[in-house]
Amino acid sequence: MIKSQGWDWKIVKEDFKSVWKNPSMESFYLVNRWKSLNFKDFLDLGCGLGRHSILFGKNNFNISCFDISSDAISRTKEWCNEKKINANYKVGDMLELDYPDNSFDCILCMNVLSHTDTEGIKRIIGNIRRVLRVGGECYLTLCSKDTWGYKTDWPNVDNNTKLMMVEGPEYKVPHFYADYNLIQELFSNFEIVNIHQKVDYFPKEDKVNESYHYHLLIKKID
Ligand SMILES: C[S@@+](CC[C@H](N)C(=O)[O-])C[C@H]1O[C@@H](n2cnc3c(N)ncnc32)[C@H](O)[C@@H]1O
Repeated sequence: MIKSQGWDWKIVKEDFKSVWKNPSMESFYLVNRWKSLNFKDFLDLGCGLGRHSILFGKNNFNISCFDISSDAISRTKEWCNEKKINANYKVGDMLELDYPDNSFDCILCMNVLSHTDTEGIKRIIGNIRRVLRVGGECYLTLCSKDTWGYKTDWPNVDNNTKLMMVEGPEYKVPHFYADYNLIQELFSNFEIVNIHQKVDYFPKEDKVNESYHYHLLIKKID
């Protein structure tokens, strides 16, 4: 299994940081869905700068923030303190995810899960299942094999995983790429409530990079 490597947030450019300071569109839907299901205990798995911890905190969830980057955790803590949001903070690796069994009603894992290899992803999915309560849900994203990064000649870690070779916060961070059949296999222990593939367009001088991600809402049913 490849060694985990978090983001180096210190080198994220200011204009790019704004992306990571505003909650994703999906998270507003999830706040409403998870409130209506009376979910309380929320894990922001790979919280980054904390944009979702802030949103769920403002909506009275009990917040746990987890990231492998101590810098990410201290920035999230600073922001939560500023907004008077109480939260628990943990620096750690999702390969271990050292929370007790059945700790959470809901987990958000946005743009995080792909930062490992095939063996790692299986272990992390097992950890998510372990810390989620029966009936609890997890929303997660996975890089898709349709995306440009998978079609590059970046070094292969295994059949599904490459090392990202773009200068920046993700340099040499492993990226796991999935397709529909692999997702069905990986999440066979869960109910897949919803699955879709989203394309983000990034214009670059004379071309447009297309970034494909699977979005999954899964439920622990037993
Ligand atoms: C692209 S950022 C997304 C942050 C946040 N989820 C959001 O949507 O704003 C990915 C985050 O995952 C963290 N991360 C990567 N690998 C990890 C691991 N093995 N365990 C915990 N966190 C990890 C990185 O340090 C980084 O903060």
